[in-house]
Amino acid sequence: MENLKKSILLSIRNLHVYYYTPDGVVKAVSGVDLDVYHGEILALVGESGCGKTTLGYSILNLVPPPGRIVSGSIIFEGRDLTRLSRKELDEIRGKEITMIFQDPMASLNPVFRIGDQMIDVVVHKLRVDKAEARKIVLNALKAVRLPNPEEIMHRYPHELSGGMLQRVVIAMAISTKPKLVIADEPTTALDVTIQAAILKLLVELAREINTTVILITHNMGVVAEVADRVAVMYAGHIIEVGNVFDVFSKPLHPYTKGLLSCVPRVDIEVEALPTIGGDVPSLINPPPGCRFHPRCPYASEKCRREEPPMIEAEPDHFVKCWLYAKR
Ligand SMILES: Nc1ncnc2c1ncn2[C@@H]1O[C@H](COP(=O)(O)OP(=O)(O)OP(=O)(O)O)[C@@H](O)[C@H]1O
Ligand SMILES: [Mg+2]
Repeated sequence: MENLKKSILLSIRNLHVYYYTPDGVVKAVSGVDLDVYHGEILALVGESGCGKTTLGYSILNLVPPPGRIVSGSIIFEGRDLTRLSRKELDEIRGKEITMIFQDPMASLNPVFRIGDQMIDVVVHKLRVDKAEARKIVLNALKAVRLPNPEEIMHRYPHELSGGMLQRVVIAMAISTKPKLVIADEPTTALDVTIQAAILKLLVELAREINTTVILITHNMGVVAEVADRVAVMYAGHIIEVGNVFDVFSKPLHPYTKGLLSCVPRVDIEVEALPTIGGDVPSLINPPPGCRFHPRCPYASEKCRREEPPMIEAEPDHFVKCWLYAKR
């Protein structure tokens, strides 16, 4: 990555995404700015409920009700994805940008054979004939190293194991050679080691076809191993972004420091995010000022009152924390 001239593929600005629930407005994403570069693997991490999936859904304008994008922009190759018509979005979704959902069954229809539904997608998205689509699907199933891909095409989703389904979903996501894949790691069901192997396979395949990946994961070992950059979310905000090496070797935000405190070295496998003391904040009534202040050992009066800006504390290493503001 370092040697390549960085060009921006996706640019998110001041994005707000809220869920309007009977209990109140859940501010799942509040004021997120994020650039994603061509060809990079960007990991998105942070504890459960901080807004990672919501941010991923927003990019495809797929935030489920009662949620919606309230304001902000998501520029992809000159077009604001938040303002496109259904038809325009349909041209992009599943072709130029694909998403691997947390639940593999969200992308698969239980009543159709794997092969038939994959062929349908390819015919529809790439406008090729069935014979051509079949070849593309078969190659994609081979690429994700499923044994007997011909036979898999005849199976129904429920006839496959969780790990196999995950591979099928990856095959679907890369079959159209998209520019961007948003991969939301399954949080349950799969064995952590199998999951890590599948994420690594996805990244390997993406690199081969020069596809950019936003990898939503809890597995810091995988992040250290395969990602170029990492963005850390906390309570609807991105609080730190930088190269994986910089963030792991010198985390700046007190939250990131806590997250990585159990990851002393980047070359060892760490299976899941460690937990940090204190409560996960409510996103209906988030804490004022810095949202991390109630759990932060360094919180000052200013942190309790004023939201910190994103600060470039080191070259290409950004942190949303008053500790790094120039005095
Ligand atoms: N359909 C929904 N209706 C209401 N609130 C929702 C909905 N989906 C998500 N939320 C809320 O939005 C916030 C962000 O959720 P989101 O699923 O984006 O988190 P996440 O970081 O992906 O978590 P996880 O790591 O557990 O997948 C949470 O407070 C969650 O409860
Ligand atoms: Mg999620």
